[in-house]
Amino acid sequence: MTRNAISLFSSSGVGDLGLKANGIETVIGCELLEERMGLFHSNYPKAKCFQGDIWTLKNEIIDHYKENYAGEPFLILATPPCQGMSSNGMGKMLSDYRKGIRPKMDERNRLMIPALDIINALRPEWVIIENVANMANTFIEDENGELVNLIAYIKQKLGSDYCGEPAVIDAADYGVPQHRKRLIFVLSRNANAKKTLQNGGRLIPHFTHSDEDTLFTRRWVTLREAIGGLPALRAEKGKNSVAGYDGLHRVPLLDEKKLFWVDNTKEGDSAFNNQCVNPQCGYQKNRIHGASQNTDGINQAHTDTPLYCEKCGALLPRPWVEDAKTGEKRLMKGFVSAYRRMKWDEPASTLTQNFQYACSDKKLHPSQSRVLSLYEGLVLQSIADYDYSFCVDGKMCSDGLIRDTIGESVPPRVIDLICAHIIKISS
Ligand SMILES: C[S@@+](CC[C@H](N)C(=O)[O-])C[C@H]1O[C@@H](n2cnc3c(N)ncnc32)[C@H](O)[C@@H]1O
Repeated sequence: MTRNAISLFSSSGVGDLGLKANGIETVIGCELLEERMGLFHSNYPKAKCFQGDIWTLKNEIIDHYKENYAGEPFLILATPPCQGMSSNGMGKMLSDYRKGIRPKMDERNRLMIPALDIINALRPEWVIIENVANMANTFIEDENGELVNLIAYIKQKLGSDYCGEPAVIDAADYGVPQHRKRLIFVLSRNANAKKTLQNGGRLIPHFTHSDEDTLFTRRWVTLREAIGGLPALRAEKGKNSVAGYDGLHRVPLLDEKKLFWVDNTKEGDSAFNNQCVNPQCGYQKNRIHGASQNTDGINQAHTDTPLYCEKCGALLPRPWVEDAKTGEKRLMKGFVSAYRRMKWDEPASTLTQNFQYACSDKKLHPSQSRVLSLYEGLVLQSIADYDYSFCVDGKMCSDGLIRDTIGESVPPRVIDLICAHIIKISS
């Protein structure tokens, strides 16, 4: 039985690996950026690629499907960009709207509108929408200029034919070695799906993993299990890469001062909390870094955290900046989540496009002086478990494209398990 899918906001097609693993063929991809679409095309050579803005391409996508395929698609996977869905500013936007002031909207949050036009025109049996958890609290301006909650808007546009409720899941609960909280909204017009919901079932599968072993779940997959066996690296010239692993087990260099900070950072802790390394002193009780809320309720990092040992006066290996003229050093501005190591016996923290920046949130390797390698990124996003290549026309993609592809993607394992579940319900 052939099951066709359309992938909207497909990026380089990582989430689609989960469809492929279940025999669902992505026959159309749509992506704004040329290089991501190029990588998608190279991995799904038979799919028709629509590269550009979905607002202008939506009718072509509908026509192409209707002209080339009989019947409705099995699935539409829609994974719109999440950058506009931050909770910051949503409160002010609503209060402005209630006061009659036209709020400043992030146009990216409206991209579900053309996606829903495609879904409504093609009526797939199943729809999977994925985004950040805050999608549930996102408001958009609809076609009539009314401010509407995005989830309510999706339900209203698809109508009562489709059933399903959004759920916030953590990818770690599905055996991905990474905490990644995301909203998954599976909708269906399949009669069995309706029955499943009426009988108290769900359109997403049960968790396979949890924070401890239980009768029904296994303990989360930890960093030690996922990447503990890989060759050691150090962010220093000559030590920052090894052969094999498609040339992807390599990390960017850190300069001498950053290595000094990172070399002295304990597992699970931040370089902002490093203690005295003067062998004659070794004082371990220097004040650690913190943050507190200001009068507007905004979290601000403390500015009085010491950079010099409170006992012997030696420079602490804490992130600093240096005045170009005077050479005077002061503590770098930043939160205690920066220059922070992950923990071996936990899943990784969420991988973003910044996962190779030491200063980004919790991005340091648990014990080695470096960030994660590109190869480790593939393992922790579960991409390494599937057949996927970063070579286009025989040439390896840029590191930037690989990082963006990993950081923006949906872990294929999550989509794989969801697809296995919905196929079981359908048949
Ligand atoms: C979250 S990513 C999708 C990830 C993808 N499903 C995967 O697993 O790799 C969202 C994608 O939407 C694309 N995008 C943003 N605006 C768009 C638009 N107007 N039309 C089409 N694609 C767009 C972005 O370039 C980005 O690659």
